[in-house]
Amino acid sequence: MKALVLSGGKGTRLRPITHTSAKQLVPIANKPILFYGLESLAAAGIKDVGIVVGETHESIKKSVGDGSSFGIRVTYIQQEAPLGLAHAVKISREFLGNDNFVMYLGDNLLKEGIINFVEEFSKSQAAAQILLTPVSNPQQFGVGVLRDGKVVKLIEKPKDPPSNLALVGVYLFTPAIHKMVATLKPSARGELEITDAIQALIDAGLEVRPHLVTGWWKDTGKLEDLLEANRLILSDIVSRTEGTVDAQSRLEGSVIIQKGARIENSTVRGPAIIGERTVIRNSFIGPYSAIYHDVTIEDSELEHSILLEHSKVSQIKRLSDSLIGQNVEIIQTHVKPTSYRFMLGDSSRVEIPK
Ligand code: TTP
Repeated sequence: MKALVLSGGKGTRLRPITHTSAKQLVPIANKPILFYGLESLAAAGIKDVGIVVGETHESIKKSVGDGSSFGIRVTYIQQEAPLGLAHAVKISREFLGNDNFVMYLGDNLLKEGIINFVEEFSKSQAAAQILLTPVSNPQQFGVGVLRDGKVVKLIEKPKDPPSNLALVGVYLFTPAIHKMVATLKPSARGELEITDAIQALIDAGLEVRPHLVTGWWKDTGKLEDLLEANRLILSDIVSRTEGTVDAQSRLEGSVIIQKGARIENSTVRGPAIIGERTVIRNSFIGPYSAIYHDVTIEDSELEHSILLEHSKVSQIKRLSDSLIGQNVEIIQTHVKPTSYRFMLGDSSRVEIPK
């Protein structure tokens, strides 16, 4: 069995972060989202992994390398434009050969991993197996209709949902999918849709099995979901201190202090993680914060936020529910006039309390 991990895409819902880096590399609890998926594949015994990359190929290749640190062998497959999930399968035809494969969307997080999912498929005669989870807003997802333990229909973003079972971004295919992908035409949004290819399998009388997610699943394509994924992962961390915490500081609850981090005259209330070489001075870091490497926070209070590397927060009370990119500075100044002064990238968003 091989795996195909999709790490291209446009990432429009995460601009401006995705103007400069890959959304699959945004850290959740200080580990890139993509790494959780690669670890799940390795844990399921999969060794040959194709990673479909787009514009952000350089940063993905730099972080993942040849895959040996995950115990896998990575082949990169360049997609010239994000022309759809089924397009990614189409251009990977040579890599996939005649093997069964897991298709894993690189921005998805699945708590339970995929071992059971893969084992169940190996024992079956099905042409494909899809992962489904109940959601409260099926109108916004691809939805599966089941009958007698089989998937009988897939509907993209239904106005009147026939079920609340949404399609999760992990799929299992036999090579039968390639024939269906080869005949697809672009959808109304101009993409080759994997749901159309799976529907074609069903229409050809082949079995498509459903598998229901038991733990949580998150598609981290937008800010609220990223913050929620960060909350979910941080909820399970176990405290560990590899940096220094001075006598004037307090750590409460589950807190990870990574190598070289310094906590000075501050309180960190977990669950929270403080990255390598990051300095927290005269500050309060509240629950569900993931502060990445080489960040400086001084005379500030923040909680429920993700900060990327080399960002700086100084004299700010109080920051919450935020995703702060690399090399961003949020500082208080005493320069007149006392107005807000911004230098923001395209598609940035600032919320100021009344
Ligand atoms: P999406 O989140 O559906 O699409 P997107 O990345 O273009 O984001 P947005 O809707 O915010 O513009 O993609 C799911 C995953 O699949 C994600 O990791 C990107 C990847 N992908 C590809 O690799 N190639 C593609 O052609 C598409 C559509 C997505």
